[in-house]
Amino acid sequence: MFIDSHAHIQLSQFNRDRDAVLKRAHEAAVSNILVIGFDMETSLGAVELAEKHSHIYATVGMHPHDAKDLTSDVLKTFRELAAHPKVIALGEMGLDYYRNLSPRSVQKVAFEQQLDLAEEMRMPIIIHNRDAYVDILPILEARQGRVRGVLHCFTGDVELMQRSLAIGFHIGIGGIVTYPNAKDIQAVAREVPEDRLLIETDCPWLAPQFRRGKRNEPAYVRAVAEKITTLRGASIKAIGEVTTKNFQKLFAC
Ligand code: NI
Repeated sequence: MFIDSHAHIQLSQFNRDRDAVLKRAHEAAVSNILVIGFDMETSLGAVELAEKHSHIYATVGMHPHDAKDLTSDVLKTFRELAAHPKVIALGEMGLDYYRNLSPRSVQKVAFEQQLDLAEEMRMPIIIHNRDAYVDILPILEARQGRVRGVLHCFTGDVELMQRSLAIGFHIGIGGIVTYPNAKDIQAVAREVPEDRLLIETDCPWLAPQFRRGKRNEPAYVRAVAEKITTLRGASIKAIGEVTTKNFQKLFAC
């Protein structure tokens, strides 16, 4: 069994064949899918899917790209949605210094406001980071012991992994680990302690090597698990079991 801990199957890219996508995930032994919101519309879409399918869970949050849209009204709605039984985490939230689609100062305010909400609701968080460890890690370190969650689609090196582990965070490994040049992420996937490892697709983006450049989907989380199996010299069954256990513990589901 495998759990895709980060998928965006509420998006229109899946409107034509969502049921077939879910069927393929089931056939690939993907037992649960966490559908991640990244603005108001996709958060509502995630909750709607989770209401329809017992094995699907949802998150609500505002991506740093759209940080400027996190008004007090939106925050209020997120607070209400966070109480929904199928909403098991907040995010994705964080900082993105690669595309800078919102000014950095605005990104930081939206990030801190969502961290406050996570503390208030005692919920785990999904962190998006791109070229922003320099600010994200100190922000999380300042709240150490009060926030927990996953650094999704981890793309740092082993040193950054160690700092992330020290603040109690989990490491989300996605399709990039299957790319031949992804040496840093492969080293992280080898060395991350097994009780902090999660697997994900980030679909429809970041398809693994065998589908690279095409639409990604939850069934392909298996390719991520297979690559990690090779890197760690473990069995695929063990990787499936440990990542499933980690997910259930972190998100209390
Ligand atoms: Ni994502």
